Amino acid sequence: MSADKKINTIGVLTSGGDAPGMNAAIRAVVRRGLSRGCRMKGILKGYDGLLNEEFIDMEAKDVSDTIERGGTILYTARCAEMRTEEGQKKAVEICKRHGIEGLIVIGGDGSFAGAQKLANLGLNVVGVPGSIDLDIACTDYTIGFDTAVNTAMEAIDKVRDTSTSHERCSIIEVMGRGAGYIALWCGIANGAEDILIPEKYDYDEQKIVNNIIENRKRGKKHHIIINAEGIGHSTSMAKRIEAATGIGTRATILGHMQRGGSPTCKDRVYASIMGAYAVDVLLEGKTNRVVAYKNGEYVDFDINEALAMQKSISEYQYQVARSLSGQYEK
Ligand code: ADP
Ligand code: F6P
Repeated sequence: MSADKKINTIGVLTSGGDAPGMNAAIRAVVRRGLSRGCRMKGILKGYDGLLNEEFIDMEAKDVSDTIERGGTILYTARCAEMRTEEGQKKAVEICKRHGIEGLIVIGGDGSFAGAQKLANLGLNVVGVPGSIDLDIACTDYTIGFDTAVNTAMEAIDKVRDTSTSHERCSIIEVMGRGAGYIALWCGIANGAEDILIPEKYDYDEQKIVNNIIENRKRGKKHHIIINAEGIGHSTSMAKRIEAATGIGTRATILGHMQRGGSPTCKDRVYASIMGAYAVDVLLEGKTNRVVAYKNGEYVDFDINEALAMQKSISEYQYQVARSLSGQYEK
């Protein structure tokens, strides 16, 4: 669309896994939109709510007292119908009928794939990266990651206390879907002895067993293994490791607690700027974009280009993590 075509009504939804900071992003979208003269509509329960026409008009007061709250006040969902062409056409038709000229989707890469389909059908969309997983290729930051890694880090410190007291080995499984960012960050921040991430793990459990035995000989009282969800099977791994080492081994799966809680300052600030930026992008007449934080700047990318990008764990960071954990390459 051209830059002079005014967008009067903007819809906003959160989709996929919730992430701390999503409320700060919603608040920013709503207040920035209102301040620029737009009507703002909240869409409940992600694409599911869109297809069921669950809309609410949003004023500035509707986002009061939300910046500090975890979860999403708009609720979220995973929606199978949105994956069908029929569902996508229906979503565009519903937006048109409700006068929604621009749609802001706060979510992960799955939600962006849905937004891309709507963009291809002519709806003006802008994506805002919200995911604890940090796995969206076009951006160096995703809303929720900082809170999630801090929550996980604190929980792992607690597991470490009991692990040391009992002179045990602990396998702690963290979220991240197919990506190992949460595991790598916690592995470094918690000083883990082993960090297992899908991008690098060679599935050679004997190496872990040897590492545990060598560490025990060196006098280490605990052995913390951070295992990424993308590898999983922590409970059975613990049983095998205990049998192979003779050292008591327990698995702790941190699970959904990593997605909750009040967002950190970093998440609130990034979410606020990204949310406002998304509105500005729409009102500049740019559409079918994804907001990102890249090389220290807030930027936006074409949604097709963004989804075609690839991202991987830095080899250097991974090697540093290993060397700090005492796994000197021989
Ligand atoms: P996230 O956005 O956190 O990555 P999901 O991958 O679960 O979460 O995606 C959220 C929702 O986005 C899905 O439930 C679905 O409605 C929609 N979605 C995901 N992938 C696609 C796709 N390829 N086409 C259309 N919609 C999709
Ligand atoms: O994408 C966020 C995330 O928490 C992933 O880390 C995890 O794999 C997934 O969502 C869990 O989803 P659900 O809440 O449906 O179990």
